[in-house]
Amino acid sequence: MAKPRVFVTRIIPEKGLEMIHQVADAEVWQEETPPPYELLLAKAQEVAGLVTLLTDRVDAHLIETAGKQLRVISQMAVGYDNIDVAAATARGIPVGHTPGVLTDTTADFAFALLLAAARRIVEGVAYVRRGRWQTWGPTLLMGSDVHQATLGLVGFGRIGQAMARRAAGFEMRVLFHDPSTPPAVARRLNAEAVTLDDLLREADFVSLHVPLTEATHHLIGARELELMRPSAILINTARGSVVDPHALYQALSTGEIAYAALDVTEPEPIEPDDPLLDLNNCIVVPHIASSSRATRTKMATMAAANLAAGLQGEPLPHLVNPEVL
Ligand code: GLV
Repeated sequence: MAKPRVFVTRIIPEKGLEMIHQVADAEVWQEETPPPYELLLAKAQEVAGLVTLLTDRVDAHLIETAGKQLRVISQMAVGYDNIDVAAATARGIPVGHTPGVLTDTTADFAFALLLAAARRIVEGVAYVRRGRWQTWGPTLLMGSDVHQATLGLVGFGRIGQAMARRAAGFEMRVLFHDPSTPPAVARRLNAEAVTLDDLLREADFVSLHVPLTEATHHLIGARELELMRPSAILINTARGSVVDPHALYQALSTGEIAYAALDVTEPEPIEPDDPLLDLNNCIVVPHIASSSRATRTKMATMAAANLAAGLQGEPLPHLVNPEVL
């Protein structure tokens, strides 16, 4: 019997692709940048499965106009704000994602950004590369201590909690804002539940770990940045649009907050002439928090397993919309 056709929107790690080729007749988009929306729209009318990334817009129009043959959408990411899940559910299409495997890798990276910003590592590297290092300087590139400082975690799901575990090693006080966290979890991690405003007022480091939804869009705007300490450092490894970029530029350029370290931006990729890139107190990296070889491979194999289950009409191991069952 012929294998079902699927479309994979980018070259994903080899092990995942091998698994996909075993169960499907797969077309893999070969470019470095995502396929155009119109092409994805056309593929959704032809294939039984789509393997997507967070760079692909899988909106209501695409899902509603997809042919009846489309049986599964498998996203290689934990976040799925690029997919209109309600529209997929309405059509009975299961959506898969890759939670869990990237938790520690992403928290490692968020903590690396925190340390890099606090201790001005990127500025130090640039200073040496430019040949400016002449001697040991008594006040050279003084930064902020991380140990025993206060970490504020906005969102206390898997990755937020992994941040709290790392913070314990630095003897940090941990505050979090996440109304869905059971008190027992907070107690176990020695973390204190506070309102968002109190967190912003008190934290030396504010790290974002919420999904992007209507409620979290520009959650950190001018008012919130104003509440933060002038010495505070903002870390964003969640989604760019959780932060209002214009308000952030204002806050960083006027000294309202001290520093920002961003793995994610709005828009993404950030424009090369974005004013945030001219600031010495802002580090921007290209959405790589989950990018360890091991983790990206696991994400690819999980996405392949979700795809295979969907093609066979079985429940996806990591299903976003159980309502379809
Ligand atoms: C990465 O940002 C993901 O959602 O997996």
